[in-house]
Amino acid sequence: MFRGQTTMKRNFLMGAAALASLATLSACGGGAGSDANAPAPAETTAAVEAPAATETPAAAAAGATLEYASFTTDAAAGEKAFAACRTCHVFDEGVNRVGPSLHKIVGRKSGSVAGFSYSDANKNSGITWTPQVLFEYLKDPKAYVPGTKMAFPGVKDDQKRADLVAYLEAQSK
Ligand code: HEC
Repeated sequence: MFRGQTTMKRNFLMGAAALASLATLSACGGGAGSDANAPAPAETTAAVEAPAATETPAAAAAGATLEYASFTTDAAAGEKAFAACRTCHVFDEGVNRVGPSLHKIVGRKSGSVAGFSYSDANKNSGITWTPQVLFEYLKDPKAYVPGTKMAFPGVKDDQKRADLVAYLEAQSK
């Protein structure tokens, strides 16, 4: 019954649009337009709300369990993405730039590079840099480690970030 109403409304709207485009825009088009516009938003809202109610839990679950392991990664593409990190990080052991050396970063404890002056936030975070943790951290470092002095906004694209983590893994072997 609800669907039937929507269809009728659609036909009416299309008819109104056709009429309007035919000629008397000011008189007829204006009247039909305001008549049709009143119920239309209510219908649209109802139509959107129904599927949203069933989709939201699934979407939320997917967001909560965005697993690095579920991505097909490309370490070569990740090497290109690492260009964004290279100004501050190198992989050479003991070589600190603006950021600490990323030598064998995967599996390392946070704040463990000798001679690098970490923020307390990073040093005391208790993080172990697993691939999954890196995947989440690098999306928004300041959100993951509030107070970090790593001035980097993050890699928002999930696939690009997964590729980047694959590259970090490859470099850590
Ligand atoms: C503008 C410089 C800068 C850029 C760009 C940058 N970082 Fe950092 N990074 C830092 C600094 C500084 C720290 C130390 C943070 C602290 O002590 O709070 C850090 C810390 C880290 C840590 C934690 C290391 C540890 O020993 O605990 C990781 C992992 C990391 N960065 C990875 C990356 C990756 C991957 C990129 C590129 C996507 C990147 N960073 C881009 C400056 C940078």
